[in-house]
Amino acid sequence: MGLLARKSITELQQEASETGEGTLKRVLTASNLTLLGIGAIIGAGIFVLTGTAAALYAGPAVMWSFVLAGSGCLFAGLCYAEFASMIPIAGSAYTYGYATLGEFIAWIIGWDLVLEYLFGAATVAVGWSGYFGAFLHRLGIDLPAGFMSAPLAVEGTHNLTRVPGGVMNVPAVALILLMTVLLVIGIKESARFNNVIVYIKIAIVVLVIGFGFLHVTKANWHPFVPPNTGGFGNFGWSGVIRAAGVVFFAYIGFDAVSTAAQEAKNPQKDMPVGILMSLAICTVLYILMSLVITGLAHYTTLNVPHPVAFALENIPALSWLTYLVEIGAIMGLASVVLVMLMGQPRIFFSMSRDGLLPPVFGKVHPKFQTPYVTTIVTGVIAAIVAGLFPVALLGELVSIGTLLAFVIVCAGVIVLRYRSPNMVRPFKTPLVPLVPILGILICGGLMAGLPGDTWLRLVIWMAIGIVIYFTYGRKHSKVQRGIGAATD
Ligand code: ALA
Repeated sequence: MGLLARKSITELQQEASETGEGTLKRVLTASNLTLLGIGAIIGAGIFVLTGTAAALYAGPAVMWSFVLAGSGCLFAGLCYAEFASMIPIAGSAYTYGYATLGEFIAWIIGWDLVLEYLFGAATVAVGWSGYFGAFLHRLGIDLPAGFMSAPLAVEGTHNLTRVPGGVMNVPAVALILLMTVLLVIGIKESARFNNVIVYIKIAIVVLVIGFGFLHVTKANWHPFVPPNTGGFGNFGWSGVIRAAGVVFFAYIGFDAVSTAAQEAKNPQKDMPVGILMSLAICTVLYILMSLVITGLAHYTTLNVPHPVAFALENIPALSWLTYLVEIGAIMGLASVVLVMLMGQPRIFFSMSRDGLLPPVFGKVHPKFQTPYVTTIVTGVIAAIVAGLFPVALLGELVSIGTLLAFVIVCAGVIVLRYRSPNMVRPFKTPLVPLVPILGILICGGLMAGLPGDTWLRLVIWMAIGIVIYFTYGRKHSKVQRGIGAATD
């Protein structure tokens, strides 16, 4: 069999319906899944990057950037929903790729998703550490600076430099290790912890929107689209496009719902609901939140690590809300890290069950019924990455990796519609091929807007993955031996 060998969808559906020892526990409902999605979505993007994008690229029109990035995600989300209802199995885009585009592309997606989940968890943990440090400072506690900062930083978009005095970002490392322990203990317990935090997070965002709107200074919204100051991306409509690439990060996470498919009670019905509801709720909240922030403070002042809290500080009547926002950000970013650290092991789990990774990655804990080996491996690597690397480098890598996965999933929907038109699709992406094509164009366009160095890092990462595939995966793949392979 060749690089295009595919997994049989019937086989996948059977795998998904297996129960008993060595399988994952089915405990998640549609509302758990929606909350899981929101838990993964609302995080460093809205709490940190909105300010940066408004101040540097788009001004108040960052709201349009949220609309643009959100529409790319909506198209991709509709494609994810079709697959998630059809192939409700833990591997997410990786598994969809295996069933439609063949083993090699599946491996590429699986390897690429490490950028989204493992590196994503590390990125948000670094953002969390910033809020946590600021909050402690407010309480009069200052940790030694060397243990709050990574030893490496990026200059411009490429040069990695040594940060004087920076040893390791200890809070980021500690957060990841704590979440890893939670995830090993059990998904149900993790989901419960996540639900509580997500409610708090939504409540705080709603409070900021509600009270914020009462205090906006309308003059801050004029001009709504600040005129271009020269060159692509510096305000004007090109600035809106560049800012969309930056705030795209804020939407990452709705697809994490699809990695929990094997733990969903009723995946055919609930996966699309979880994916689309979480995306829709966050899109509305983001658009309103970006309007409020740029209405409370002039966009030129927003390039700070805590733009939401900063914007509120301008309004004495809302100072009480500033504390809540900081606490909300600390809890909210932690829940994003949790969901990302939950998604990654489940993808490794699927890859190992397919023989593309060693069998130890597929081990399920006899008592907790969680994929504990992959959870621990993921946690340890993410902790090291979070401890050593700067947020700027990590964030862009996460975005480009995720956008690539979205493009491939959109393409996969079109391929499967032509190859297997009669297959039962509990949820159908509307207007195929238009919706997937729009998804490919918008997500591809956002990728094109990212700097060349980020592209280079993506290529290097993929090259490493390809070497691993040809030295291990291809030789051990079950599908290559005819097990579970598609025959049509
Ligand atoms: N969407 C997630 C965040 O903004 C990754 O933190």
